[in-house]
Amino acid sequence: MELFDVYPRFNINPVSAKGVYMYDEQGQAYLDLYGGHGVISIGHSHPNYISHVTEQLNQIGYYSNSVKMPIQEELAQKLAAQSGYENHHLFLCNSGAEANENAIKLASFHTGKKRVIAFINSFHGRTAAALNITDNLNLQAPINQDNYPVDFVELNNTAQLQSILASGEVCAVIVEGIQGVGGLDEPSTDYLQFLAQACKTHGALLILDEIQSGFGRTGKFFAHQHSNVEADIVTMAKGMGNGFPVAGLLIHPDIKAKHGMLGTTFGGNHLACSAAIAVLDTMKEENLMHHVREVSEQIVSGLQQITEIKRIKGKGLMLGIELDHPVKEIRTQLLRDHHIFTGASDNPNLLRILPPLGITYREIKPFITALAGLLKGIETIQLTSNT
Ligand SMILES: Cc1ncc(COP(=O)(O)O)c(C=O)c1O
Repeated sequence: MELFDVYPRFNINPVSAKGVYMYDEQGQAYLDLYGGHGVISIGHSHPNYISHVTEQLNQIGYYSNSVKMPIQEELAQKLAAQSGYENHHLFLCNSGAEANENAIKLASFHTGKKRVIAFINSFHGRTAAALNITDNLNLQAPINQDNYPVDFVELNNTAQLQSILASGEVCAVIVEGIQGVGGLDEPSTDYLQFLAQACKTHGALLILDEIQSGFGRTGKFFAHQHSNVEADIVTMAKGMGNGFPVAGLLIHPDIKAKHGMLGTTFGGNHLACSAAIAVLDTMKEENLMHHVREVSEQIVSGLQQITEIKRIKGKGLMLGIELDHPVKEIRTQLLRDHHIFTGASDNPNLLRILPPLGITYREIKPFITALAGLLKGIETIQLTSNT
């Protein structure tokens, strides 16, 4: 049987991984600055991750949501304490798209309405409702079109948003904490605060998609917390399980649950919860959010010395490096000649990095040196500070 060929793949077979490195069959190390789309949060094969998941597997790996699951309560308590969303309720599922799918559905259940506002360049996943709010027609099959009414508006344009919300038809506004796939644009603090208020005024729910930008990646638990706003629903996935498929929604207590309203067979199973707890425990033990803020400053100041870089976007360890030409060849050279994984985005001129949250400046420095060398067309460059 052949694999359904939907992924362009690098000709690399990682067979083991530790921390910020992956190793192929020949033992060649690769510096992983991308974490398989921002998933590796506490580092590959972190000892806490291995012990939590192994111990859980030796007890009970799976049962459905038809029984008591104290491990879900433990995860909820830890999430409440670390995220600051003390009063929201937790629903667990399996992937980012599924989290957004449920968020949109909840907003519609709660308000009785069905129009949604999303943003130009957004990416919210590939299931039906999530695709409808994703600004990329190429991903839609005919069956996905005209699912429910959606308006795509510009980030940080208050007038545009206001006029659509004023119709009173909108059940939700969904926005990424920082746009990932779209290319690292983000809502300003003023705009997010306006958005939260405008949603309240017009009876719409504010959904913050923190699937890529959450779980400490930007130096706060969620990126929107840099702007001091609270969302009605927060969706999360990626870094939540450090590679184990687990996702979830934080839901405002005013949104009332009823049996059968949402559901999933695998969501919140014992193993998934053990992986998410390992991530939360490690974030706390290693003070990772503080580390992210510190190391990010060092990385940004290292990158600022490379005059060929047009702009550095993003926050914490969700960074976009914008050039004035396409990054495709640079990414290929970084991987082929320097064994460094980086990411792309819908903006062809933007290199995206999402390294493990514990990465040190020493570990990432070879990337900065290699990038400087490639951009200057020379092999090495002496960077003057942060050595
Ligand atoms: C912001 C955001 N939302 C949703 C998704 C979809 O997540 P998943 O691929 O787990 O369905 C992604 C994936 O890249 C994402 O970046």
